[in-house]
Amino acid sequence: MAPSFDDGNSLFNFVVRDGNGVKGMVDSGLSTVPQAYMQPPIERIDKDRARKHGHPPIDLSKLGGPEHDEVAKQIVRAAESLGFFQVVNHGVPVDLLESLKDAAHDFFSLPAEKKAVYRDDVSPTPLVKYGTSFVPQKEKALEWKDYISMQYTNDAEALQHWPEEIRDVSLEYLRTSMSMVRKLLQVLLENLGVKPEDLMIDALVDKKMVNMNYYPTCPNPDLTVGVGRHSDMGTLTILLQDGIGGLYVKIEDDSEFGKKGEWVEIPPVPSALVINVGDMVQVLSNGKYKSAEHRVRTTSTKSRVSIPIFTMPNATAKIAPLPEVVEKDGNTLYKEFVLADYMKNFFSNAHDGKKSLDFAKINSA
Ligand code: OGA
Ligand code: NI
Repeated sequence: MAPSFDDGNSLFNFVVRDGNGVKGMVDSGLSTVPQAYMQPPIERIDKDRARKHGHPPIDLSKLGGPEHDEVAKQIVRAAESLGFFQVVNHGVPVDLLESLKDAAHDFFSLPAEKKAVYRDDVSPTPLVKYGTSFVPQKEKALEWKDYISMQYTNDAEALQHWPEEIRDVSLEYLRTSMSMVRKLLQVLLENLGVKPEDLMIDALVDKKMVNMNYYPTCPNPDLTVGVGRHSDMGTLTILLQDGIGGLYVKIEDDSEFGKKGEWVEIPPVPSALVINVGDMVQVLSNGKYKSAEHRVRTTSTKSRVSIPIFTMPNATAKIAPLPEVVEKDGNTLYKEFVLADYMKNFFSNAHDGKKSLDFAKINSA
């Protein structure tokens, strides 16, 4: 029996504690947005005012060929300005992309009991976590999203612990994505004057996670957000989105994409993947590459899925701007820190744009 969603406590218990998620709430027959999900006006997304990012996706099959330099330049330019771009011919089979989206829908359609076994406090494995919103205990308004997160350590553990309904496609997605991620990092690092060795690139993507996000239909999308404004904390994020749209990126500086502070939509492009720069790359590059602030709206007509791969260094890694860059720049914007400390700060606060980076800023009193 679904509780009254007007009461904050019973809503929290049903959605968060008992693992029914936003999906369980919507499936119980919801005609209005509960108070707990109403965003303050400043966080609401005015979809009619956002423009679409019109750049064609970058063709990664040209890396290493006669047009290598031009393609490398496109990647660098995108990372320096918006921090977001799309790629095609990325090496991930196109039919796998379809299977992944189907698998995500199938997984979230499972009965709540099946998903709830992976709730944070009861999951049989630290590698898998099912949840809703971002940090529900800390948020003033909840995000209209459920998710499952699968950490990769090695194939054997993934095969043993990841939910079997989504395990094989997720592993294949990760396997086929990683050589692209390495090539992108190679290009980004070389442009900074670093001669990246395999070992260095290995270290930057030591930790990998495949997530599946599920954004149920919402009775009033103008009042809610799917994900609030945030940047991703890691190295690079690879994102598969479906055809529904609603992913917005904030323009950090006046550029070819528009004016500072405006939001542009990253439109769905069939068979493309979205790449975005995470906080670690912004720090390593001493601010040259932008970890972009982004957010996702909800829709009233169809549930949306997205499937990101997050990459990051090992939790014990020490992170600081690369010496080659600091030497050239003559200054350092970020202090050295241990990644585990950065993560602890990131995951214990509600989403708040790029505030996560303050943790690493020098002189951010
Ligand atoms: C994320 C995210 C975007 C999307 O999971 O960090 O920003 O389109 N997702 O779902
Ligand atoms: Ni994100």
